Amino acid sequence: MVSRKTLHLTWSVEEATKGGYSHFMLKEIFEQPQSLRYALNLQQFYVNVLAELLDRARTSYLVGSGTSYHSCLAGSYIFSNLAALPTVPCIASEFIQQYGRSINVDSAVLFVTQSGETADVLKCAEYARSRAATVLAITNVLGSTITRVARAYLLQQSGPEIGVAATKTYTAQLIVHLQLALALAKRRGKLSQSEMDNIKDGLKRMPEIIEYVLNKHKSTMEFLAERYMDKKHFFFLGRGINTATAYEGRLKLLEVSYTPATALAAGESKHGPIALIEKGFPVIFIAPRDSTRSLIIGNIMEMKARGAEIITLGEEGDDELRKLSDCFIPMPPMDEIFTPIAYIIPLQLFAYYMAVKKGLDPDKPRNLAKSVTVL
Ligand code: G6P
Repeated sequence: MVSRKTLHLTWSVEEATKGGYSHFMLKEIFEQPQSLRYALNLQQFYVNVLAELLDRARTSYLVGSGTSYHSCLAGSYIFSNLAALPTVPCIASEFIQQYGRSINVDSAVLFVTQSGETADVLKCAEYARSRAATVLAITNVLGSTITRVARAYLLQQSGPEIGVAATKTYTAQLIVHLQLALALAKRRGKLSQSEMDNIKDGLKRMPEIIEYVLNKHKSTMEFLAERYMDKKHFFFLGRGINTATAYEGRLKLLEVSYTPATALAAGESKHGPIALIEKGFPVIFIAPRDSTRSLIIGNIMEMKARGAEIITLGEEGDDELRKLSDCFIPMPPMDEIFTPIAYIIPLQLFAYYMAVKKGLDPDKPRNLAKSVTVL
């Protein structure tokens, strides 16, 4: 007989009820200021352990499925931009085929998995371990399988997420990536003290910024869902770190409202997808005032010239962008590195209201499971 120790989770019953919200998805979207505060409370010791193991590896991979993969994609930009550490983001179900033969004792694989139980991820973790790679993880569930397989892991501490569509756990994963990247930057001497202090201050301000965005845009996004609910297809376009935001915004929309949508790094749209554009086709641009802005303005013009309906998320006061847009969603100013955390918020709300307006239950999308434990 196997005897196992009882593991007590700190999650309360209250956290697992709707608490006055009509759906868990909406509740969890609104919990983000708090879940981000929790995610900022990592134990520095473990952050440093992961940073050291990633830094020691010859090649590092970031692996996840669904929303967690999107956080890997953003994470890869974050590690490169802050710590000059190249990492390879990869979809879990493709990892072994794509990189299996390259994995060895000099590889580190950071698995990102909210549940810690996704079969595609666990299979890769076993595989990586069998090839003597260093297995690391970011997860939300203490005691989950990934925490037993990984050499070291970080708990994002988002509390239970009941809605099938991941919302608060995505933004928390981004906050964890940022802290890990800071520790890496420090180890590798890639940021000055004042740059590090600025990023730390910015991180601390994120919960407040998210609170502001939630309150400012709840009714805007409900209104936009009403306006666009009959559209048959959407494009989501971003550049740089916000390519991940485009992918995640699209995934939210299609999984809860069953609205077909295409997400692309905006520079790719001219290589084929632009063929779909005709008068009134809705294109959502993630366009903060950052290093990608001038190029994305070019992409907006390309779409506009073909009659697309232009919806943009951009910085408050960006009049050039506002004038080019049929609908402009103003966002508070922030450093580029934080934009994926804030800019996904209106898109989560948009997906939620699109589902509700169509009479669907966003908490239980058809054919989907919160955690997919089969290959
Ligand atoms: C399922 C869920 C997604 C989630 C993905 C990965 O497909 O429906 O919302 O992003 O699994 O889950 P994980 O627990 O590994 O982050």
